[in-house]
Amino acid sequence: MITHYAGLQVPTVSLQGAKQFYCQQLKFPVISESEDEICFQPTDDFTLTCKETEIALHPVHIAFEVPYSEFDAVVSKLHAAGVTFLDWPDGRSIDQFETGKNVYFRDGDGNLLEIIAHSYVKEGILQPHGDLSILYLREVGFPVEDVVAFRELFVRLLHFKLDKVMDNFCFAIGGTAHAVIPSTKRKWIPIAMKALQPTAMVTTFGVSSHAFIKQVQEKLDEAGILGELTAANELIFNLDVYCIHLRVTTFPEDVPVQLNLPLA
Ligand SMILES: [Fe+2]
Repeated sequence: MITHYAGLQVPTVSLQGAKQFYCQQLKFPVISESEDEICFQPTDDFTLTCKETEIALHPVHIAFEVPYSEFDAVVSKLHAAGVTFLDWPDGRSIDQFETGKNVYFRDGDGNLLEIIAHSYVKEGILQPHGDLSILYLREVGFPVEDVVAFRELFVRLLHFKLDKVMDNFCFAIGGTAHAVIPSTKRKWIPIAMKALQPTAMVTTFGVSSHAFIKQVQEKLDEAGILGELTAANELIFNLDVYCIHLRVTTFPEDVPVQLNLPLA
């Protein structure tokens, strides 16, 4: 099964700018730096890589889950670090919804970031990491023209479950990983931002076993989608414009159940 987001690579036009934002303001540890990329480690199980590019940027949307009991403190820390929150049309920046709270902001490349906390997520299961007490990367946005066809691929190929299913939106969920799938015609909240398709984004899902990778490989074959198995046993393929990697990790399979996630 898919267990979590193990990595995300996003393009940047400024490695220095990415470092200032993610390292100095969000306090993500830097684990490696080269001429054209910088890698941050927000949690032990997730790596964020910013890779220098010359292509036009289309913003990425990602959301980090933090413990509900620490949400207000995390927001205060972000505010103290000079992070500018995005406002809803009525002027508020923190949204309190039925099961949680969230707040949005942008990095130097215009990517739409979110800190989210849910009251149902059991605390004490995953260790909060760093200054922002991050538990895991919860969301990556995958805007597409045909939401229905794209989400069915996640279900058929990767055994994801669906939630908030609409014609122009849904969540596809595997483990703690939530793929947010909006129509490119539906704008991102809270600032009605165009949901353009991020170019050159590479998403790595952690999976529980090589047997699962083999299963996915067979399903890709059936669907006529080219999959490549690397020397390091990572399976790489493209869905729509999105490059997906699957990698076996030691992230425990039962974390979503222990966290009390609704579809676990
Ligand atoms: Fe989100």
